[in-house]
Amino acid sequence: MARATTTYGCSECGHRSPQWHGRCPACEAWGSLAEKPAGGSTARVGGGQSGRVRSRAGLAGAEARAPLLRDVRASAGERISTGIGELDRVLGGGLVAGSLVLLGGSPGIGKSTLANMALGNVAGAGEGTLYISGEESAEQVRLRAQRLGASALEVAVCAESDLEVVLATLAGRRPRVCVIDSVQTLRAPELQSAPGTVGQVREATARIMDLAKELSIAVMLIGHVTKEGSLAGPRALEHLVDCVLQFEGERERPYRELRALKNRFGSTSEAGLFEMRDEGLVEVLDASARFVAEATRTPGSVVLATMEGSRALLVEVQALVAPSELEQPRRLVSGFDRNRLALVLAILTRHGQVALAGADVFVNVVGGVRVEEPGCDLAVALAVASAARGVALACAPRACFGELGLTGELRWVGHPGRRLAEAARHGLGEVICPPGSGEGACEAATLAQALTLALRAPETGAQRAVAAVA
Ligand code: TYD
Ligand code: MG
Repeated sequence: MARATTTYGCSECGHRSPQWHGRCPACEAWGSLAEKPAGGSTARVGGGQSGRVRSRAGLAGAEARAPLLRDVRASAGERISTGIGELDRVLGGGLVAGSLVLLGGSPGIGKSTLANMALGNVAGAGEGTLYISGEESAEQVRLRAQRLGASALEVAVCAESDLEVVLATLAGRRPRVCVIDSVQTLRAPELQSAPGTVGQVREATARIMDLAKELSIAVMLIGHVTKEGSLAGPRALEHLVDCVLQFEGERERPYRELRALKNRFGSTSEAGLFEMRDEGLVEVLDASARFVAEATRTPGSVVLATMEGSRALLVEVQALVAPSELEQPRRLVSGFDRNRLALVLAILTRHGQVALAGADVFVNVVGGVRVEEPGCDLAVALAVASAARGVALACAPRACFGELGLTGELRWVGHPGRRLAEAARHGLGEVICPPGSGEGACEAATLAQALTLALRAPETGAQRAVAAVA
């Protein structure tokens, strides 16, 4: 009788199946089935316990030691600096030996460039490095490295996609830091699925992780992002790796943002800002100054004091409100959540008496920056109101922050002191913000009050707003 050579195992419940299912037939977990190498009941599983799973039935494995936590020796998180300040900060102080970092982002955003620059700096500091490229040939990697300065050329490169060869090379060279570009190109010969499938990517990651931990190599895996913006395949890796970094931005614009989505060794709220130039990625150290200088301060323009992780940042939020020809007016936004925009517009209509029913509304966070914290609501509301009324913010050098509640109140948000200080540093003395934000703040308890303060025009109701729109 013909036997299936490949089986699929569920990483949640251990169920085995000769067929792949999107949902485990046993425990009904989605996407948990991964291919297992042919044969062998003790084969490694492509899940978190890979390499440590022993035959359960016979209890043949040796007992493991289980010392008390206080007796476990832990090096005080020795960090390897990548020589790129913004990257080190997002990582929580540099790379950790023996850890796995997954760097995701859409094609052409600069992942390879960033990884190459980091390796170059590590090599420049006299440490062993290895760049494993499954996508580009060694020549292509060199051509890029040439643009990135002398130390980028000191990196050892290996164009390889066979997992066994990659592991053997890693074990042989024992670099301090290794980059694998990309994890989706790696191919485990014992699996029959194509490179880039969940089974392959998991198997490759699990085995690289075992080796990296054993040899204390810091590994940076590069992963692609799907059209929907999630990490393809690697989504399944997020549990495995220690740190998931996302590189975002628009290809047509120079600014790139690096965010940590998961970090076992640091905060996930940090973000780093870069600019793509001819000579590679350059850290943007004083982004606020740049954005404030570029702000137009015409109707529809508002400066927002936001938080990027632990750092305050001033960005310009722009809005355009125009009469719509469509039955369902357009609501377009870039750099801010769409659903959040819908909410802010509803609050603005109801509690700010700004009528937007027949108008298209466009909102843009300038510079390709993405703002995600709740403190951005007020800036979006003020920008739209200012655009709708055709009135620029009174008293031009001004910023704002604050979350909008459903009843039209302005809610306190984190780190008001840092936001105010950043605004003051850039000459924006008067900052409209929620109550309790601190000294020197221009506090408003409700959206209506904030609108009065910002636009300095008495609330004249919906009719006037409609007139401005029409
Ligand atoms: P790359 O790092 O190859 O992107 P990814 O690995 O994420 O796919 O870089 C993508 C773009 O960056 C490429 O279109 C060219 C541009 N670039 C520069 O503008 N300056 C540079 O110094 C380098 C190396 C690349
Ligand atoms: Mg690349």
